[in-house]
Order: sequence, then C-alpha cells, then structure tokens
Amino acid sequence: MIRYAVIGIGRMGSIHANNLHAGLANGATLVAVCDIDEQKLNNFSISAPDVLTFGNYKDLVSIELDAVIIATPHYQHGEIARYFLDRNISVLSEKPQCVSVSESRLINECAGRSKALYGIMYNQRTNPVYKRAKEIISGGLLGSIRRVEMVVTHWYRSQFYYDQGGWRASWNGEGGGILINQCVHQLDVLQWLVGMPKTIRATCKTVNRNVSVENDVTATFEYDNGATGVFVASGHELYGTNRLEIAGERGKITIDDYNLTFIQYANSEIEVNLGVTEGYGSTECTVEKLSYGGEYRQRDEKYGQQLRVVEAFTDALSGKGTPVAYGSEGINALSVINGIYLSNYCDKKVAIPLDGEEYDILLNQLKEGEQK
Ligand SMILES: NC(=O)c1ccc[n+]([C@@H]2O[C@H](COP(=O)([O-])OP(=O)(O)OC[C@H]3O[C@@H](n4cnc5c(N)ncnc54)[C@H](O)[C@@H]3O)[C@@H](O)[C@H]2O)c1
Repeated sequence: MIRYAVIGIGRMGSIHANNLHAGLANGATLVAVCDIDEQKLNNFSISAPDVLTFGNYKDLVSIELDAVIIATPHYQHGEIARYFLDRNISVLSEKPQCVSVSESRLINECAGRSKALYGIMYNQRTNPVYKRAKEIISGGLLGSIRRVEMVVTHWYRSQFYYDQGGWRASWNGEGGGILINQCVHQLDVLQWLVGMPKTIRATCKTVNRNVSVENDVTATFEYDNGATGVFVASGHELYGTNRLEIAGERGKITIDDYNLTFIQYANSEIEVNLGVTEGYGSTECTVEKLSYGGEYRQRDEKYGQQLRVVEAFTDALSGKGTPVAYGSEGINALSVINGIYLSNYCDKKVAIPLDGEEYDILLNQLKEGEQK
C-alpha cells in the first residue's frame, strides 16, 4: 500500500483526501491530512477518525509516509515540494507547479537529485479525446503541423466569485488570473500535443471585473517549424467556447467541447499542391470521431478526473507505469504563462526559454502595485 498524506484540505484537497480514504485508488491509503486551518482538520476527523492530522506540513516526516499530495494555494507548492523531495518522499503537486519559471527550475533541480517520484495534477491529459489527439500527432498522422488554435472562453467567473476573497485572482495570492488558475490545464495540453512555442506575443485585459489580474487573453505563438498558434481565453463570456484545432500537412484535428474529429487526408497538402493544374485543390479523406462520454466520463464527474492522476501515480510508485505527468513538465505551461505576462506588460515579443530573472522582477512589481 502506498501511504499518502494530503496537504491542504480545502476544496480540491478534500476531494483527494476523501477519495483516498474511501479506497477509490487501488493500492493507495490515506494516513494523514495537513492544513493550517484547525477547523478543517477537526471537520475531516469527524468522518475519518483513523487519519492523523497535522497543522504544519514539516511534521509529516515524523510518520511513515510514501507520498504527499500538495493542494495548497500556488505560492506554497514549490517550498512544500522541495521539502519532501529533499527527504526522498514522493510528491504529487496540484497545478500549477509553482508561480514562476525561476522557482520551477529550482524545484526541478531538487527533483533531479531526489530518489522520490515527482508528479503534477494535469488531469486534463486523462481526457480520452486529448489522449487520442496525442496518439494521432505522435504517430505522425498530421504530418508537419502548420496551425494551432485554442479558444477557451468557457471559464466564466462572476464578480461574486472574485469578491469571496482569499488567495484567488490576485498577484499576491496566486500569481495571476485566468491563465495561472484555470488555463494552466489547457496550456499544458497544448504544449503536450504540439510542443513548446519559440516566441510569444500577447495581450491581457481585465474585462468588466474589479480585480487586478487578467480575465481576458489573446496570445500568438511561433513554433520552430514555422507553424503559428493562437490562444484565446476569457472568463467573462456567456455561452463560452472550448475549442482546439490543429492543422497539419496530412490531416486536421478539431476538439469541440470534448468531441474530437480527426480528418485524415488521402494525400498531403504538398502532394495536392504539386498535382493540381487549376486554382483549387482537394483530396479524399477519412473521418474519425470520438467523444468524452459514457461511463468513463460519469466516473470522472462523480469522483473528479484528478482521481485518475492519483491512480496512475500510485501505480507508478508500485512499479507499474508512469505518472500522467512528471512534475518537472510543469515548467512548460508555466513558461508560456510567464511569457504571456511578460509580453503583455513589457509590450514585446518574448522568447522561450524564458528569462526567469526578468519575470521575477515583473512579478514583484505587479505584487507591489497591488498592495498600494
Ligand atoms: N486539478 C484541478 O483541476 C484543480 C481544481 C481546483 C483546484 N486545484 C488546485 O488545488 C489547489 C488548492 O485549491 P483549492 O480550490 O482547494 O483552494 P482552497 O483555498 O479551497 O484550499 C486550500 C487549502 O490549503 C490550506 N493551506 C494553505 N496554506 C497551507 C499550508 N502552508 N499548509 C497546509 N495547508 C495550507 C488552506 O487552509 C486551505 O484549506 C490550488 O493549487 C488549485 O489551483 C486544482
């Protein structure tokens, strides 16, 4: 049995803790929970008196433990991950990995030295339509990718949501807005599917909300092979869109609200172009469709997609398979997020790999500006 402790038993952490305590992840057991809020610990103990409680995560090393799940606000992810990785205790961190690329590099160095496993909660990668897209692209069925477009405007958040306060939607509390909180999932999926951009140009805005962070983003990406990408996100659009298009020389993937359509061309665009003697061109194609539905989705809706990440992490710790995502991969979406902020606030095109120090200076300015 892999013995887990969950650190931070708020909204997300209590789902992890309850799932583990209910024995939903095969081969895993919950031995402890930790939170700085004593009331939350007391409430948890009522339903799970057999689970130890801690007010300080550092004290968890006093018990026999294989892994921790970190579900605190973002700024604490890095220091807690490093504390346990340094002690060879495995870490499954909630997203984002941390807030800045420079801290991500420090954590990744620490993970590189550790004998323990480091994973990150990128649960969207378990969605069957994204998994199929990954297979299609890795199998070379799209050929060279030419265009990517992701529109994520379905993260509607009202002023009431922001007015609940706490750490959310602030530079000091979470290090950004819709990008770092919600879109980190999509930006991870995007880089997982098509790789990292080499440059970013972006605009961030705050539309119709009284918050200091962004709820509206438009970014353009350039990739090494000459492909271009457009990323649009917002949290103020009614009837928002969740759409991904990836167009290659040999085919095209469209994912619309978790319904995938894959069009495979009989001939590549290069072949079509060479073969035609008129102004237009086309080729035959096959069409594959896949939906994220059925029992798979019902289970995710009941227990949270995140349970699949915990199960895979438990298997990996038991010598079976690999985590859904290694923690060190957290730097990729984070680089894109930090890069979008740099591009917006410094009004320039930003190159990846990112200059971590430059971003740290900007982040400090944004945090100070918010305090005034
Ligand atoms: N994977 C997903 O889809 C998903 C969904 C929601 C939230 N999250 C992530 O989960 C994390 C927590 O989000 P939430 O919505 O549960 O927040 P929350 O505010 O409801 O819970 C955070 C908890 O952490 C506790 N905490 C703060 N500092 C602590 C510390 N030093 N030690 C121990 N406990 C501490 C707080 O008291 C609180 O109970 C965030 O990183 C968030 O991005 C991920």
